[in-house]
Amino acid sequence: MSATLATVSYIGATILFILSLGGLSNPETSRRGNLYGMIGMTIAVLATVFGPQITPAGYVWIIAAMAVGASIGLYAARVVKMTQMPELVALMHSLVGLAAMLVGFANYIDPAAAGTFKGAEKTIHELEIYLGILIGAVTFSGSVIAFGKLSAKISGKPVLLPGRHWLNLAGLLVVIGFGWHFINTHTVADGMIPLIVMTVIALLFGIHMVMAIGGADMPVVISMLNSYSGWAAAATGFMLNNDLLIVTGALVGSSGAILSYIMCRAMNRRFLSVIAGGFGTEGGVPGAAGGGGKGNEPAGEVVAIQAAETAELLREARNVIIVPGYGMAVAQAQHAVYEITKHLREMGINVRFGIHPVAGRMPGHMNVLLAEARVPYDIVFEMDELNVDFPETDVAMVIGANDIVNPSAQEDPASPIAGMPVLEVWKAKTSIVMKRSMASGYAGVDNPLFYKENNRMLFGDAKKMLDEVLVALKG
Ligand code: TAP
Repeated sequence: MSATLATVSYIGATILFILSLGGLSNPETSRRGNLYGMIGMTIAVLATVFGPQITPAGYVWIIAAMAVGASIGLYAARVVKMTQMPELVALMHSLVGLAAMLVGFANYIDPAAAGTFKGAEKTIHELEIYLGILIGAVTFSGSVIAFGKLSAKISGKPVLLPGRHWLNLAGLLVVIGFGWHFINTHTVADGMIPLIVMTVIALLFGIHMVMAIGGADMPVVISMLNSYSGWAAAATGFMLNNDLLIVTGALVGSSGAILSYIMCRAMNRRFLSVIAGGFGTEGGVPGAAGGGGKGNEPAGEVVAIQAAETAELLREARNVIIVPGYGMAVAQAQHAVYEITKHLREMGINVRFGIHPVAGRMPGHMNVLLAEARVPYDIVFEMDELNVDFPETDVAMVIGANDIVNPSAQEDPASPIAGMPVLEVWKAKTSIVMKRSMASGYAGVDNPLFYKENNRMLFGDAKKMLDEVLVALKG
């Protein structure tokens, strides 16, 4: 393929990636967005493989690497459950970071590049390598820890080293100092030492940063690592002289940064406070058994009901708001929820869904599940749109959600989730919480909602209970 055709293909792929991001911003256009992304990626891969940079000898390696990568990808896509998607995404981010690191080192020791760069060009080339490896290493180790936390292989509790801010600052100064030393070295052997020291510091920083973050703040970290993986890819693009990788990396990096901002707003957190870690730990230790927070321990009686009573409450309601959470994903209860919704709507009851921005374990988790079950988009609302309506709501039905409906975020300043906006389901005439036990949610915080006078608990697996409610409703 000629260089011109490759450039035209790259521009075409870039346009498709931008259209893809635009499509993915709305559930109604997200399928189209995915399609644009897939076509764009196919064009990008073909234009790179058949592009002018590849020599025939390289094909063996490329085909072997693609066969291995595609087999792992196909296998993962088949076996990974929907509830494991967040950790899979974290693992994929770690691979982007690892690739940036390896490309950086390969680029530095490449004998073909020796002596090619002189003066300012040499400095720029080495700066690209240094920054590429730095971002790649932080992304790699941070994402591996995020994977561990999301898959519960590592505890969700924040691990706070004494003087952690000073440690981070010292690490940053050493990285800057070694960076200066690196670009002033003249041989690969001399430059290797600062490069390796910086890589080790960056790896430790990634571990330290994510370990220090408490359970409830993980959404910000995930979107932030998403953004880092984009910048790591862009850095790889600079090192490999590949314009498409630079643009694609920048698109992922900036959209991840916007997502981090949205997540921070949803959690009512300042970005820097989250990155510094340990947010909200003054009130206790999130993730601790039985909940954290030395604030007001919830107390009182819990009123449990059965499916038949739930059906009765729903049948008598005029307005119902359903709040899904992570438990709906675990139980795969989205289809059962929609069956009940259809039935209630046929009875003339106004049913709407309230979606918290960090419900579940990944951005848009609930929207994806509801779209899969074909719930109409016009009855799915964001938290801010619905919160004012709870006082006029007869039944608020909480399906496998916990942290996102926890009133202690508003009522208990000592709570680890204090200040986080929540869906105010307790303001409805009756709230019904569907979950299996009294266990706390991801943030490990007790939930006073369960003890409120107008709250009822329907204990059991969400799918099983909803099936029973549907039978009772029809009967
Ligand atoms: P959680 O607070 O984690 O609560 C989920 C609840 O679902 C649990 O208390 C659990 O109680 C219940 N559950 C689990 N399996 C169930 C089943 N089969 N049937 C019925 N219930 C089941 O979830 P949430 O309310 O959606 O809040 C999300 C939390 O995750 C927030 O703290 C958020 O910060 C965090 N987080 C979010 C993200 C993103 S980007 N969305 C990423 C990382 C972390 P039982 O065990 O008693 O059933």
